[in-house]
Amino acid sequence: MGISNKVSEIKEKLSELGQDHILNFYSELNKAEHEGLLKQIQSIDLNEFQSQVDRLVLANEKDADLDWDALKPADYIPLPENGGDTALWEQAKAKGEKAIKEGRVAAFTVAGGQGTRLGYEGPKGTFSITPLSDKSLFEVFANKITRASERYGVRIPWFIMTSEINHEATIEAFEANNYFGMPKESLFFFSQALFPAVDLNGKMLLEEKGQCVMTPNGHGGSLRALVDSGAIEKMRSEGIDILSYFQVDNPLVPCIDPAFIGFHILNQSELSSKMIPKAYPLEKVGVFCQYEGSNLVVEYSDMPEAMQEQLDEEGGILFRSGSVAIHLFDRDFIERVGSTSSEDKLPYHKALKKIPFINASGVREVPEKANGVKFEMFVFDALSKANNPVIVEGLRNDNFSPVKNAEGIDSPESCQNDLLKQAIRWLKAVGVEVASNSESLEAKDFPFEINYRFAMDKDDFINQWNSLSDKPSIQSGTIIE
Ligand code: UTP
Repeated sequence: MGISNKVSEIKEKLSELGQDHILNFYSELNKAEHEGLLKQIQSIDLNEFQSQVDRLVLANEKDADLDWDALKPADYIPLPENGGDTALWEQAKAKGEKAIKEGRVAAFTVAGGQGTRLGYEGPKGTFSITPLSDKSLFEVFANKITRASERYGVRIPWFIMTSEINHEATIEAFEANNYFGMPKESLFFFSQALFPAVDLNGKMLLEEKGQCVMTPNGHGGSLRALVDSGAIEKMRSEGIDILSYFQVDNPLVPCIDPAFIGFHILNQSELSSKMIPKAYPLEKVGVFCQYEGSNLVVEYSDMPEAMQEQLDEEGGILFRSGSVAIHLFDRDFIERVGSTSSEDKLPYHKALKKIPFINASGVREVPEKANGVKFEMFVFDALSKANNPVIVEGLRNDNFSPVKNAEGIDSPESCQNDLLKQAIRWLKAVGVEVASNSESLEAKDFPFEINYRFAMDKDDFINQWNSLSDKPSIQSGTIIE
């Protein structure tokens, strides 16, 4: 088709949807910009886009329209120390270890977000997090995966989802650091799709005169991206049927968790999730609930405060199961939910944002308050579509300390303190008391590290430590590796 036919076809479609204003500056653009804009518009499924605008912006449909009286806390498998069956946990661990050794498990990091709250330039995974060795988040995960590969005698692949915004920079960071010691063939990078952002009247926004504002389509976009990128095919050809999902901002996560994997297999689960008990009723985490026969995650911002504060018969928090974005996905389930033709597609949600844009006079405006909407899919929405979903309790201290904000709660400082506390606990488990005040130590006063390349979890640390003929003394500045 000739370029002018293509333009008039696109223009017609856009005007049918009331979005043709994005071509207002078309005559001012040069050839390369023309092509860029047309290519960008063609990458958008305009019907899908407009139906989300109609539903979420123009009709202002609410995200959570639940009958709150029908909502119950989700069932979960408690830890042995909280009443769980020790023998069952051991059985699960053995089952998980067997699957890992058989090469059925790969790691998967979603790293396509924009990380605006942290305010760090560059892919979030390249942010330095360890207090002494200055390792990036990516390197911490690479160390954990490498150690798991070594421990179980198997090459564990690592799938990493980026977005167009940080894809090149992510790959460059891996190349510049020799893939953080991992074999290149173990790594598979792919980008998630972008989705147009709109103003409060549902009109597409321009970033430049020849470029629409497009943002990553949420961590839920990972399921589609896994299918579209060929990652699922690669998994199939390598005999991998379980994907261990975690977020790029949580260095405390066990990338490969044998007992969790074992429960997933024992229950023939299509999607398993870690829960940690909420630290306090109004903690800002989503909550695993049961609703109309399915499990789902209700966002803290949607759940009425009185429900968040409700207690059970023993005086504990009733809706206690905090969702911390740690999951195991069955490969065939991803394929089912992630295919564009699927009936089981994840829904989009909207988020109000401050979005700089080119106004009708062609001048760039930087708004001071929210002026637009971005659309995202949430990965946990897959929960209600999964067969036999399982929720397994994890210790917060060994699972979750995200780096979201530059300061305060969920910041690099709080995360470094949690990494230190974990190292102190692991040492305690082998009878080493780091200091008399070890409970209150902070990373800035007493930096020391256990390299996850040495041990991937507490059990592993105990074995590794006991096998050391020359055990190091632990002081400020020590790195056990
Ligand atoms: P967040 O919800 O914290 O978003 O992502 P973010 O974009 O990283 O940070 P803010 O909100 O702008 O400060 C949680 C995880 O999901 C990934 C992120 O990279 C992070 O690992 N994510 C988020 C994606 O991979 N794609 C997205 O579109 C959104």
